[in-house]
Amino acid sequence: MSNSVTNKLNFYGNTTPFDLIEKYGSPLYVYNENILKEKCRELMSLVSYPNFSVNYSVKANSNLELLKIVCEEGLNADAMSPGEIFVNIMAGYKPENILYISNNVDKEEMQYAIDAGVTVSVDSVSQLALFGKLNPGGKVCIRFNPGVGAGHHEKVITGGKKTKFGVDMDLLDDVKDVLKKYDLKLIGINQHIGSLFMEGDSYVEGVKSCLSIAENFSNLEFIDLGGGFGIPYHKLDGESRLDLADLGSKLTPILTEWANKYGSNVKFKFEPGRYIVAESSVLLGTVNAIKTNYSNKYAGTDLGFNVLARPIMYDSHHDIEVYSQTPSNETEPITVVGNICESGDIIAKDRILPVLNEGDILGVLDAGAYGYCMSSNYNNRLRPAEVLIQSDGTERLIRRRDTLQDLIRNFQV
Ligand code: LLP
Repeated sequence: MSNSVTNKLNFYGNTTPFDLIEKYGSPLYVYNENILKEKCRELMSLVSYPNFSVNYSVKANSNLELLKIVCEEGLNADAMSPGEIFVNIMAGYKPENILYISNNVDKEEMQYAIDAGVTVSVDSVSQLALFGKLNPGGKVCIRFNPGVGAGHHEKVITGGKKTKFGVDMDLLDDVKDVLKKYDLKLIGINQHIGSLFMEGDSYVEGVKSCLSIAENFSNLEFIDLGGGFGIPYHKLDGESRLDLADLGSKLTPILTEWANKYGSNVKFKFEPGRYIVAESSVLLGTVNAIKTNYSNKYAGTDLGFNVLARPIMYDSHHDIEVYSQTPSNETEPITVVGNICESGDIIAKDRILPVLNEGDILGVLDAGAYGYCMSSNYNNRLRPAEVLIQSDGTERLIRRRDTLQDLIRNFQV
């Protein structure tokens, strides 16, 4: 059945895609609170090493209401910018539970983080020196690049010899010199080698290399092992899930033995973004036009790449469900496109879907991570609203749709 995934999960609670679109307009990001909480809980029991935290990587989705839920579930958070530090604090995270993983920041941004009281991770010897000048005698964390990376697309591989991230291990002496010069205390190291692994083994390898880097330093308080935990984007084709239990059972002895050898109860941090939020959301959109151009059939929708950028940026696949008042049992290949003035504005190419009609609603699955947060006002389109299906099945608006006035807000000087 074309809506088998959401049916099974009772995703829409007491409401329906039709009611939601009528009430909040199309397109619309819909989130499910139960699923969000379930994903938080899965990762909160990843390993049985006692001293660990799950730092939600808020770049995947920084909706304030969702952040509050994740915070209430007991997760900590990372941040990538002063804006993320700001919303994290607004959501209730304590500064000491936020790790600011900075990248090429200026003096003001670094100072903002220091003043906010969050732990700062720096990404180069040059930025370590900046931190030292601003905060001599302070505590700092360093992101290292283990020389290897992984990820679902070259644009999201963040470790390895060809990426801008982290400090090259050959620069260890320079790192030590700068630490000494500014009397800095290195309290943690972190890494993130890339986004989306479905087999735990590459993560385990990354963890081992991070631990071998950590051996160069004494008295570390924490080691942040990064994120990247994948979700099955091809559910309708039966793609299996990442086996978290297996991954956890491999990680626990590695972490325990390492900590025993290191001689301290060091804290390990995991930093997932996608795994926490991706499956908690379906992006709804409407079929406005059906057309055939030179034997290619198109469904013209309001799901442009201003709303969901992943397909045009990384050729990413998202499963699609169809909600129709006149459902068809027939299927056919169709290319689902948006309403943006570029021919790359394709959300699904030659996808086999039930025969579509104008007015049908499409549900783009697994849209919660890197969905809304990467949306834009390109073509002066309005970013959609976001609605939460709460645990009791009722819905709540958690971000309003942009208005035309929002488009000129910054001109009103
Ligand atoms: N930590 C750091 C330092 C990161 O740079 C990232 C993601 C994460 C953690 C979380 O990674 P995750 O668990 O979500 O894989 N826009 C792309 C993904 C970019 C990921 C960037 N960094 C996408 O839509 O696939």
